[in-house]
Amino acid sequence: MTIGRRVIRLDEATSTNDVAKRRGRSGEPEGLVIVARHQTQGRGRLGREWISPEGGLYLSVLLRPELDPKELTALTTYFVLPVAKAIENITGLKTELKWPNDVQIVGRKVAGLLVEGTGQRGKIAFLVLGIGINVNNSAKDLGLEGATSLSEEAGRTIDQEELLEEILSELRSHYERFKKGEYPEDEYVRRSSVLGHQIEAVIGRETFRGKALYLAPDGALVIKSDEGLVLRLSWVNDTSLRVTDSAENIDIPTKD
Ligand code: ATP
Ligand code: BTN
Repeated sequence: MTIGRRVIRLDEATSTNDVAKRRGRSGEPEGLVIVARHQTQGRGRLGREWISPEGGLYLSVLLRPELDPKELTALTTYFVLPVAKAIENITGLKTELKWPNDVQIVGRKVAGLLVEGTGQRGKIAFLVLGIGINVNNSAKDLGLEGATSLSEEAGRTIDQEELLEEILSELRSHYERFKKGEYPEDEYVRRSSVLGHQIEAVIGRETFRGKALYLAPDGALVIKSDEGLVLRLSWVNDTSLRVTDSAENIDIPTKD
């Protein structure tokens, strides 16, 4: 299998994840990529809107991983890494990873990842990995504070085709390494804007303040609350995270 063995390009989609899911249900093999120039109903986690005007990159990848469901949550957590690396390779910009699913540049959100899947009796039928990146669109036009685009950060137009090729190439090598049990923990930790920081986590109706300690093997974020409680935040839950300090030299404890 190779991610990108078949690439379908659309002018418009409601959501590229919907198109990929339809193909998944009708038995399409893994590796299919759906790309749309814009989306009319782009979505993020928890049904939030992903604003998707022309100039951005919107793609979904169909995967059929033969993995233990336990490994799957880690896989999805670590999938932001190939996106971040591809952005760095093409633009020369430095990226940060905000657990669970954001890629940022100097604290502003430039890309997000949405993983959706279906399965039965604990077995994964397929996964759809949706990636949205603000590339040559204006972040100001999105009307969101805290968002940016690659062209605005780099001060030049970015070649979308080149970026797409680099993303597919990074995804391929990341996926192959992951299937061999290679977790790119160091590469992740180096870019994390969360680990070692003071954070505020809103989980459903509860708010916890504390410190982000480390990533658990399953991709959950382990935090220690100011009251001394150690909590595991899972990306599948309704969790929102805010970093509340901006210390440059932070201490990232190890698991051991
Ligand atoms: P968290 O940090 O907890 O993940 P989040 O605000 O990043 O919170 P997500 O569900 O990951 O939430 O992402 C969806 C949010 O992203 C939307 O609610 C909106 O605020 C923001 N958003 C929507 N479209 C874009 C875009 N094109 N670029 C940047 N941010 C966007
Ligand atoms: C998030 O930050 O919550 C995730 C945003 C994911 C957006 C991408 S764009 C391609 C794919 N199609 C969608 O509707 N969402 C994902």
